[in-house]
Amino acid sequence: MSSTVLTNIGELVTWHPDRPIVEAAALVVEGGKVAWAGPAAEAPAADTAYDVGGRAVLPGFVDSHSHLVFAGDRAREFAARMAVESYSAGGIRTTVRATRAATDEQLTAHVARLVAEMRRQGTTTVEIKSGYGLSVRDEARSLAVARQFTDETTFLGAHVVPEGIEPAAYVDLVTGPMLEAAAPHARWIDVFCERGAFDGDQARSILEAGAAAGLLPRLHANQLGPGPGVRLACELGLTAVDHCTYLEDADVDALAASGTIATLLPGVEFSTRQPWPDARRLLDAGVRVALASDCNPGSCFTSSLPFCLALAVRDMGMTPTEALRAATQTGAAALARTSRTAPAYPSSARPGSPAAASEVAAPGGRV
Ligand code: NIG
Ligand code: FE
Repeated sequence: MSSTVLTNIGELVTWHPDRPIVEAAALVVEGGKVAWAGPAAEAPAADTAYDVGGRAVLPGFVDSHSHLVFAGDRAREFAARMAVESYSAGGIRTTVRATRAATDEQLTAHVARLVAEMRRQGTTTVEIKSGYGLSVRDEARSLAVARQFTDETTFLGAHVVPEGIEPAAYVDLVTGPMLEAAAPHARWIDVFCERGAFDGDQARSILEAGAAAGLLPRLHANQLGPGPGVRLACELGLTAVDHCTYLEDADVDALAASGTIATLLPGVEFSTRQPWPDARRLLDAGVRVALASDCNPGSCFTSSLPFCLALAVRDMGMTPTEALRAATQTGAAALARTSRTAPAYPSSARPGSPAAASEVAAPGGRV
């Protein structure tokens, strides 16, 4: 098996507790896996050497929250928002109309373009939600499209109640035939728990139905105002709860006590001019914080995690190292993974694991 050593690494991010960042480092890759990581002076020999010219070597970004399966655009809504309007959940229905009218091929080509854009910016794992189909057929095919690109697919039939159906009947549809059609293509189930979307009781029953069908629950919560979502997520012991923009002290306490990860999505606040989520308050309370893009046509049309990290550092009180960890190691944890791979995009990884993971570990030797 041939090996390659990356030499002249200015900084190697390992997230190893003893040595999270190694300066003047080297990394050996063998058979697509990291075989060794540590100080350059101690690097073992390898078949070929590749000089990275003093650059940093980082784990791949894990974007644990995106809505890439959609058609059409909402540029007019964005323009109106920048002039007078504020963001509301209702705009989702505009995208639902366009998505239902698109062919599978059109949806697939669109996701392919966005995933390629993400990969060029360092994202090696992406979670993709449905949520712009909102019918049995359109949710199932949205997930089938997403599955071509990632294992991290999320059924978000409970995004909003679509036109032409009463809320109670729609919850029955989501927890019944739609869940049945979606489950084979999904790993997760999500609910938009917010004013204008679904309340706490509806969210609870939808997540419970999803869990009974073998899906892992997660939640959109406290994006547009205070509400029950974050505390529900903590009570149910969810892996992650996403947005967390409007938090009361009891929400922060519940997050700290439960270990549920708070995934912050600063591209949304950039695009909606809402207040920034208070990352510093969460980190200081001992809450684990992840950062993700939330790439979608309505509240945040960026696929760039580097941009989201910059916002988190500039406006949300995170240090660059905290932001980097939030979009790699904690992003992977928000998907209940310790490392993720994307074979075509090697970045760096834990010795013994594939060479494009969210964690690199054990500087200075094989493990
Ligand atoms: O995460 N919050 C709910 N869903 C998306 C926005 C969807 C849309 O406006 O199209 C979000 O912000
Ligand atoms: Fe979202």
